[in-house]
Amino acid sequence: TRKIIIDTDPGQDDAAAIMLAVASPELEVLGLTTVAGNVPLQLTSRNARLILEIAHRPDIPVYAGADAPLARPLVTAENVHGKSGLDGVELFEPAAPLAQGHAIDFIIDTLRRQAPGTVTLCPLGPLTNIAMALRQAPDVADRIEEIVLMGGGFFEGGNITPAAEFNVFVDPEAAAEVFAAGVPLTMMPLDVTHKALTSGDRIARLRRSGGRPAAVMADMLEFFERYDEQKYGTEGGPLHDPTVIAYLLRPDLFSGRQCNVEIETKSDLTLGMTVIDWWHVTDRKRNAMVMRDIDADGFFDLLIERLARL
Ligand code: BDR
Ligand code: CA
Repeated sequence: TRKIIIDTDPGQDDAAAIMLAVASPELEVLGLTTVAGNVPLQLTSRNARLILEIAHRPDIPVYAGADAPLARPLVTAENVHGKSGLDGVELFEPAAPLAQGHAIDFIIDTLRRQAPGTVTLCPLGPLTNIAMALRQAPDVADRIEEIVLMGGGFFEGGNITPAAEFNVFVDPEAAAEVFAAGVPLTMMPLDVTHKALTSGDRIARLRRSGGRPAAVMADMLEFFERYDEQKYGTEGGPLHDPTVIAYLLRPDLFSGRQCNVEIETKSDLTLGMTVIDWWHVTDRKRNAMVMRDIDADGFFDLLIERLARL
């Protein structure tokens, strides 16, 4: 099994990623760390615990992390996810409390305690916690097996500005530090996630397939897809964050190439843009595996089959 830490800001699509991970025996989820992003930290921390309870895994610890980006005020996305971050289902106060301690210390301690090269970080929100852990303990960079993250976009453009994807835009300084850290990094940009659309048929299959967790997820996704359907006229909404977990389980569903990726932190116009040297027109260091395509049917088959097990 592969050991992972999921750093997250749930978010309905984060919730789907968490469920996919805990439903998959190939993965051992050591803990969730929460960050401010889609909604403020208190809500992402509540939501993370709530999802684990629905998925029958309240034993997995949830550590709260940064409540604001490194150098900027927080930008949230209630317009997409609703006021709670998980609109679309009935919410409740989870029984399990937050774990004691800060997310950053949990990330650092775990990387130091586990054998080098055996822990993968899966960031699904702004990269604040990861950047802070690397600042506080630069020695742990070498101990990370890989960072597989959802963020950025290039050919597809942005979803919060014309140039930037939400997770990178919210904390571009953090993203710049993480992409420069020299850690093996795989990136799921909008170019991939906008090809993984929740059609009515896919949600109906999810609902039919399993028990309560799958049905709750179907309700969440029905709320979540409305934003994109109304705004862009797509059939379904992009299921961003579960692509990270799906990649760990079935890398063959994705294709991309190793590229240089730099993060814009200065320009007002293109703040948070992930500038991807797809054509290798520079000799800058190839610091990330940038995915561009996904077998969407294979991805949804995997998601539905796994969530049905919960
Ligand atoms: C990303 O932003 C959030 O709204 C989603 O959860 C996803 O992580 C997509 O841009
Ligand atoms: Ca997210």
